[in-house]
Amino acid sequence: MSHVMNTYARQPVAFVRGQGVWLYDEAGRKYLDALAGIAVNTLGHNHPRLVAALREQVGAIIHCSNLFQVPLQEQAADRIAEISGLDEVFFCNSGLEANEAAIKVARKYGHDRGVAEPAIVVMEKAFHGRSLATLSAGGSRKVQAGFEPLVQGFVRVPLNDLDAVRQVATHNKNVVAVFVEPIQGEGGINVSRLEYLRGLKEICDRNEWLFMSDEVQCGLGRTGKWFVYQHAGFLPDVVPLAKGLAGGVPVGACVVGGRARGVFKPGNHGSTFGGNPLAMRGVVTTLDTVKDEGLLENAARVGGAMIEGLKAALGGRPGVVEVRGRGLMIGIELDRPCGELVKRGLDAGLVFNVTADNVVRLLPALVISEAEGREVVERLAPLVKAFLSQETARPKTAAAR
Ligand SMILES: Cc1ncc(COP(=O)(O)O)c(C=O)c1O
Repeated sequence: MSHVMNTYARQPVAFVRGQGVWLYDEAGRKYLDALAGIAVNTLGHNHPRLVAALREQVGAIIHCSNLFQVPLQEQAADRIAEISGLDEVFFCNSGLEANEAAIKVARKYGHDRGVAEPAIVVMEKAFHGRSLATLSAGGSRKVQAGFEPLVQGFVRVPLNDLDAVRQVATHNKNVVAVFVEPIQGEGGINVSRLEYLRGLKEICDRNEWLFMSDEVQCGLGRTGKWFVYQHAGFLPDVVPLAKGLAGGVPVGACVVGGRARGVFKPGNHGSTFGGNPLAMRGVVTTLDTVKDEGLLENAARVGGAMIEGLKAALGGRPGVVEVRGRGLMIGIELDRPCGELVKRGLDAGLVFNVTADNVVRLLPALVISEAEGREVVERLAPLVKAFLSQETARPKTAAAR
């Protein structure tokens, strides 16, 4: 019997090493990795520059505490300020922690302005993590069930619906912030329209709300720019980051600027491990490598080609609702639950996952080549076609109806 707590439905495979976008299991079988540890392995596996930097760092110092100066934290924050256009970075260790910090910033911002019970506008189908505050901010009943009472202070609206936010602005004077994943990840690769993001930003400016862009999954280069808000052409006030920020070393960051600058004062927040030298070396090396290797351009080019390839192979087929995404954040929505495709992918030597029950999700490393991107499409499309034709041949499940 396993002593690991049973919180994940795991696939029957263990990867023991990787190289670039390729993974190898215990038997030496090779898989094409189109998931990158759920958007974490920005530089792929075993990137020589990251491996050398981390090895060197382990031999120098791993952890020392925020009670002291941490020069690598300064360097990492400088890099993040430069690519984000924002001003201050709080380092933590995961996405939910980055979002927890963001929620605290919003509440503190409200209290500083005399709002005793500050509220935050959040989206349907959102996912911000699994702490009590972040699961309350999220839009999944499945994630919330069993953990009530939920944290108060969230007002939910549908994504891509500006009127709904305008209504809230008119009727709820406690609102101090909007919290949005500009491309929802766990919710099914739901892409915000850029005009919608700009409209949201306008509403925020008019009401002096914070614009908080959860880029934990969609940020850090995968869409072809460092951050999705840069496609829309404005600066948010708060940007939580994690996942790909240190190429696989656990790290999170709550980045603030604009109206959120200076909200946190000494004593308002903290983290024992946050900003440790090992993780910071991972951040600096990952960001420098993305820049030096032109990986933003690569993500835009290869991701664009993959989306086109998938549209050509699957678009318009019965059972395929939509192929969508931006750069290397890609979803294929089917009209029925398709979780079993993941195992079939593994059997065919391809790693991806399924989110929101019926959306095949691809989040490959930013180092993926055009040929490897083509190979993902060539391996995936026949699997989806076979799944759909076999499924249409038998009666649909209740869930699919
Ligand atoms: C947009 C978004 N925010 C927050 C999180 C939570 O991150 P973590 O699992 O590191 O706590 C995730 C994880 O999938 C995410 O996709």
